[in-house]
Amino acid sequence: MQCSWKSMVLLALASIAIQYTAIRTFSSKPLSLLCPVGLATTGHAVNCSLRDLTRLGQVRPEESVRGCDEVFSHIPTPPSISLHSNNATKRTHILILATTRSGSSFVGQLFNQHPEVFYLFEPLYHVQLALLPRLAQSRNLAERRVMLGAARDLLRSLFHCHLSSLESYIRPRPSNHSTDKLFRRGASRSLCSPPVCEVPLGLEEQSLVLSDEGECVKRCGPLNVSLAADACRAKHHAAIKTVRIPQISDLRALIEDPRLNLKVVQLVRDPRGILASRIETFRDTYRLWRLWRATGHRPHNLDLGQINTVCEDFLRSVSLGLARPPWLRGRYMLLRYEDLARFPLQKTRELYSFLGLPLDRSVEDWIINNTRGSSDLSSRQKFTTVRDSAANAENWRVKLSFDMVVYTQTACQPLLELLGYKTVFQARELRNLSYSLVEDRTAPPFFLNN
Ligand SMILES: *[C@@H]1O[C@H](CO)[C@@H](O)[C@H](O)[C@H]1NC(C)=O
Ligand SMILES: *[C@@H]1O[C@H](CO)[C@@H](O)[C@H](O)[C@H]1NC(C)=O
Ligand SMILES: *[C@@H]1O[C@H](CO)[C@@H](O)[C@H](O)[C@H]1NC(C)=O
Ligand SMILES: *[C@@H]1O[C@H](CO)[C@@H](O)[C@H](O)[C@H]1NC(C)=O
Ligand SMILES: *[C@@H]1O[C@H](CO)[C@@H](O)[C@H](O)[C@H]1NC(C)=O
Ligand SMILES: *[C@@H]1O[C@H](CO)[C@@H](O)[C@H](O)[C@H]1NC(C)=O
Repeated sequence: MQCSWKSMVLLALASIAIQYTAIRTFSSKPLSLLCPVGLATTGHAVNCSLRDLTRLGQVRPEESVRGCDEVFSHIPTPPSISLHSNNATKRTHILILATTRSGSSFVGQLFNQHPEVFYLFEPLYHVQLALLPRLAQSRNLAERRVMLGAARDLLRSLFHCHLSSLESYIRPRPSNHSTDKLFRRGASRSLCSPPVCEVPLGLEEQSLVLSDEGECVKRCGPLNVSLAADACRAKHHAAIKTVRIPQISDLRALIEDPRLNLKVVQLVRDPRGILASRIETFRDTYRLWRLWRATGHRPHNLDLGQINTVCEDFLRSVSLGLARPPWLRGRYMLLRYEDLARFPLQKTRELYSFLGLPLDRSVEDWIINNTRGSSDLSSRQKFTTVRDSAANAENWRVKLSFDMVVYTQTACQPLLELLGYKTVFQARELRNLSYSLVEDRTAPPFFLNN
């Protein structure tokens, strides 16, 4: 009975729900599969178009609703891929749970640079685009959650290196398991280097490919998804970054799956910093905030929706993490972006220690090259954004007006307290960068080593 409200939501969200429930129907019925989205066992995604999903969903929408959440327990999962089962570190799957403009690209690099980690940058982008194109604007909680079943299934498949599951969501549909439409393919080192990309290059050029996403796409040609899956299997570990899962509780089914060995790094950032960064980046959505900043007057129709969503999602997730329920134990680490920006090497060591993985020299080198430690910009212009994001974690303090800061921190007060971000009461406090607004936090799950 606990799933009945969900059923109501699904039915109410007519067309979206049909697409979504169709996927669940498939997941629960391996024998009648046309479209094994998220079905880790098959490894082949065939003929799964949105049209098919819709058509099939309309035939028996009620069936999938009846199944509800328990279908997940019927999904067969293959044994974990373990190349050195008796010996080396257990295969670990890492999920970076983040939100936009919270520093997640930077954290992703801490895994992307590791030679034994297969890293994927935001694969759920394709799920969102295929199922819920309007989602980016949507603040409707129910709508946001509609996508989650599909997203979880896909994550499970991807961690198991069944990359072909992703093909079902890519538009246009890849043919011959080959596509040039994978979102930000160039952000994944494994997808830009041999054997996935065999372009013969000199050493210098090779590092160019690795540092420049556009260059990777240009030189490597369409992505051979089968080769990418091989590359995934050849690595000891896999990491995925996403800004499309709202809360840690949405991942419970994956975290509790013992064959997945999933560890989640939740990245959080001061919502005032997220706001300042989004105002620069998402100029249309945050148009009224820019107007406020320019004129000094708060537009009467200013919408706090987006920032409220960030604060609510963070608050729920972090409260849950701090409560340390048994199912999260040893599987959840909370990382404040500000801590990473201030102590990149130390926090990265803690991160790897939590994951139980050896920190590779190349990760440390990358950090040294791309944080404040280095001032040589000339040869590595392409990393400027990354470098800035690390150095400028607190530059919102000079970018937002005092009024905007007060307005935001009032809306997010409980979260600021929970995460240890100080409220400011005077413009002088706000602008005085020698006065830190970040309290120390060293208790679990901010620091977790077990
Ligand atoms: C999938 O599509 C191909 C070509 O479009 C077709 O030959 C094949 O029979 C289809 N498979 C299924 C299971 O419908
Ligand atoms: C364990 O790993 C070491 C070095 O990585 C290797 O030399 C050894 O053969 C491995 N042992 C087994 C049983 O796989
Ligand atoms: C798929 O690959 C086969 C063999 O490599 C080739 O003959 C065919 O033209 C390819 N199809 C497409 C649509 O690229
Ligand atoms: C992708 O790689 C596989 C394995 O090497 C190969 O058999 C296949 O032909 C490649 N596909 C394309 C489209 O190049
Ligand atoms: C770091 O910078 C040095 C010197 O520019 C370069 O040789 C090295 O390859 C860089 N390492 C990484 C991981 O970026
Ligand atoms: C800035 O903050 C520091 C540390 O709290 C304090 O010592 C200093 O007096 C402040 N400066 C001004 C101008 O308020």
